[in-house]
Amino acid sequence: MTDSGKEFHKKTSYIRGNIPRVRLDWTHEPSRYKEYDGAKKIKLPLPQKRGGAPLWDVIKKRRSIRKYNNKKLNIREISQLLWATQGITERSREFRATPSAGGLYPILTYVVINNVENLDAGLYHYNVKNHELQLVGAGDKREQVTRAALDQRMAFNAPVVFVWSCIFQRSVWKYSERAYRYIYMDVGHIGQSMVTAGTALGLGSCLIGALYDEEANELIGVDGEGESVVYMCTVGHSE
Ligand SMILES: Cc1cc2nc3c(=O)[nH]c(=O)nc-3n(C[C@H](O)[C@H](O)[C@H](O)COP(=O)(O)O)c2cc1C
Repeated sequence: MTDSGKEFHKKTSYIRGNIPRVRLDWTHEPSRYKEYDGAKKIKLPLPQKRGGAPLWDVIKKRRSIRKYNNKKLNIREISQLLWATQGITERSREFRATPSAGGLYPILTYVVINNVENLDAGLYHYNVKNHELQLVGAGDKREQVTRAALDQRMAFNAPVVFVWSCIFQRSVWKYSERAYRYIYMDVGHIGQSMVTAGTALGLGSCLIGALYDEEANELIGVDGEGESVVYMCTVGHSE
């Protein structure tokens, strides 16, 4: 492990009798929702909440798929994948499909649409509360997303690339430095739900941790400090 890796692990360890005391500042509680005011909105169809492929079959079948054919995805599939990863599954407490440390939900989902029926190419943000997409930037983003994904060609050929960022303060507010462990766990769970749901829909997918951070942040238009890209996933029909 590198020195900075070791130091990070040490500094964020919980030691019995010496847990950092954090007094929650409720006047600055971070919102769990990001809004793109004035953005074009695309309402997603309601996701399927019953049935589907048997879980054990899905777990056995899932593999990382890096080559996709030209078949388009459709908006029902996009809706299902977003719901299975970040959708609200309990309205009263606003809990989501994937667990999150302290229920703080620091991870945001962006979607690069390349080849989806009746959806223009572009970068969209998933508005969790309303289960809708918000257009962040129109146009063909294939080159940009591929460069951000360490030039991995699958990002160019995939009909859709999910991009997950983190607003650190949502979790730091409660967990201080320890939050930097939890956010990667959170996004890992989201990634697992994505590839599980993808397999259940008969789609191939591949998670991407190897990315050029700065270029990934430029893609979604964030500064890399308050909000930064942490993970991606390509999804499409297997070649
Ligand atoms: C955190 C993480 C990052 C990954 N990053 C990449 C990546 O950048 N490129 C890639 O081709 N696969 C990536 N993968 C996929 C792994 O290579 C893959 O899961 C592994 O080879 C096992 O194969 P399987 O997923 O088919 O079981 C990543 C997986 C994880 C969990």
